[in-house]
Amino acid sequence: MEALKAAIAAIHKQRPRTTVVLTGAGVSADSGIPTFRGDGGLWRNYRAEDLATPEAFARNPLLVWEWYEWRRSLVREAQPNAAHVAIAKLPNALVVTQNVDGLHHRAGSTDVIELHGSLFRARCVRENKRTDALDPFTDLPPHCACGALLRPDVVWFGELLPEGAFERAARAVRDADLLLIIGTSGVVFPAAGLVSFHKGLSIEINPQLSALSSSCAYAIAANAAEATPPIVQAVLDAGTDR
Ligand code: OAD
Repeated sequence: MEALKAAIAAIHKQRPRTTVVLTGAGVSADSGIPTFRGDGGLWRNYRAEDLATPEAFARNPLLVWEWYEWRRSLVREAQPNAAHVAIAKLPNALVVTQNVDGLHHRAGSTDVIELHGSLFRARCVRENKRTDALDPFTDLPPHCACGALLRPDVVWFGELLPEGAFERAARAVRDADLLLIIGTSGVVFPAAGLVSFHKGLSIEINPQLSALSSSCAYAIAANAAEATPPIVQAVLDAGTDR
């Protein structure tokens, strides 16, 4: 855990005031939610083009919804882990997540940009109107009151991010003293490109090397639930010894 100790020392030295936390599926792995890539990853067992594209939905909305209902049920039964809880304690922090599981909100984070949408909202394909969809649907595929299909309010391959989300995230990354990158393989753009805007201290937490490891000052090879709490504690302590 040399990297963890060195990162904590750097936090004490630099005393960051503002933080952006960029998260991916790995931050929720310790809550029992499967990641996309790697052993046991969703894209090992399912083809993205069958389930996570507008074309797949047009071809077979029932199949796509069945897969999303399964993922929604996994997340409903899961709890935020020690990493989500620690992140929520950071003062002056913006969470930028690629995850659609809502666990940052459930852990108490209030400023969260969900770059890829949410499993717990649906959107009318005709009117584009968004609705909260916390409970399981009784009939699949679900329909809007207007009669058109509802779709999950998530970003599929080939689709644009929610309006303004990337721009706000990029500005915050550029202005942040500390960038924490937790549990992302860093291969999906534009999210992965956010890192290039950062000029301050950067720390990654990921048990494996990622595409972003080499651009971080410190890469801590550990699980999120293990390494995030001491890093957050260091930020809190550095703030109080000012
Ligand atoms: P990936 O599945 O690509 O990467 C997960 C990362 O988490 C890997 O680098 C793992 O090493 C790491 N990891 C695994 N367990 C961990 C743990 N306990 N603690 C910390 N890290 C751990 O997931 P993302 O990078 O989030 O997009 O994938 C990005 C996007 O690709 C997703 O948002 C999704 C997917 O296709 C869409 O659906 C649009």
